[in-house]
Amino acid sequence: MRLLVTGGAGFIGSNFCHYLAGERPDWRVTVLDKLTYAGRRENLEELESGKGLRFIQGDICRPEDVAGAMEDCDAVVNFAAETHVDRSIQDSADFVRTDMEGVRVLLEEFGNHGGGTFLQVSTDEVYGSVEKGRSGEDDLLRPTSPYSASKAGGELLAMSYWHTHRTPVVVARSSNNYGPRQYPEKLIPLFLTNAMDGQRLPLYGDGMNRRDWLYVEDNCRALLLLLEEGRPGRVYNVGAGQELTNLEVTEAILEAVGAPRDLVSFVDDRPGHDRRYALDVSRVSEELGWRPEVGFQEGLRRTAQWYMENREWWEEIKSGRFREYYQRMYSDRLRRAEQREEKEL
Ligand code: NAD
Ligand code: TYD
Repeated sequence: MRLLVTGGAGFIGSNFCHYLAGERPDWRVTVLDKLTYAGRRENLEELESGKGLRFIQGDICRPEDVAGAMEDCDAVVNFAAETHVDRSIQDSADFVRTDMEGVRVLLEEFGNHGGGTFLQVSTDEVYGSVEKGRSGEDDLLRPTSPYSASKAGGELLAMSYWHTHRTPVVVARSSNNYGPRQYPEKLIPLFLTNAMDGQRLPLYGDGMNRRDWLYVEDNCRALLLLLEEGRPGRVYNVGAGQELTNLEVTEAILEAVGAPRDLVSFVDDRPGHDRRYALDVSRVSEELGWRPEVGFQEGLRRTAQWYMENREWWEEIKSGRFREYYQRMYSDRLRRAEQREEKEL
């Protein structure tokens, strides 16, 4: 198999490449990644020294970059995207460009080169907030953030290529992932690394929003199954069924790191913050026999250990342009939270 992995230098993409190197060592993998702020070439370092992985720096929105990378490839897994909801609230331009136009360019080029499956990696956020019950694959999509709206656009476009051109598209809608090499803007790595440094943990709103946390390796196992056995023209939910409030996640992080509870600050909420996501995963388990294997406690233990052992990886990020982002996102909110805390005393 010759596989194109787009966005392979990011969090899930790089974990997928590591997983493939163990599970399918004879596959030839090409990674196409633009290396935005979230893409880290060092995530693939060990793999690039072997023969199984070729890295190309390029943009999925540029047909010439995609055509070169896709040459000789039988199948595609598209991870490449702008992925952080908070950034999409500040500026949605790159989200629409990469998460929709990028998917269109990939699909067009795949029509000229491909043959195997086109696996579009999507998200449970396309359903929008679900107050009760669980989202099934045929439910209405009601995305609420520019991130989730552009991801919904990307997967709908991909599915339209199945209906119109019979491009063998499979869509995976995964829930919140966590694990090694996740960029420290997301909840779990941000709070883990802040707690390790004795910095405040800015919890949005009342901390009662709920997410279903999926250990990244469990997701990678599901994605490989979908690539090999998923039915073209079909959408599959992938979630662990481990629903936790953000406050529960925060408490588990404090315990894992041995940090005090008074680091937690309740800050102004994210605008339009979805209250809850929850997936019905019976399709992927009944059709393909997939089940999550790593419980939250064990997954968080492994994740915390990785961040403890790889301080240089995240310290380099956090001491670079991330500082400006953090300042812009959090400094006023943290100041206001402190003023509120003082008044309450
Ligand atoms: P990430 O932000 O860590 O990585 C994204 C990668 O895409 C980076 O390496 C970046 O350089 C690359 N990229 C961005 N724009 C590009 C472009 N125009 N051309 C080529 N490469 C580009 O993201 P992640 O968390 O690993 O998410 C991967 C995929 O999984 C995304 O499609 C995301 O929507 C989806 N997803 C993520 C989660 C999660 O919890 N992280 C959950 C469900 C679905
Ligand atoms: P995030 O990791 O950004 O993923 P998503 O918004 O895509 O689910 O956030 C997970 C949850 O944590 C979400 O409810 C927002 C919340 N959150 C905070 O409370 N504080 C933070 O600093 C961040 C980044 C997220």
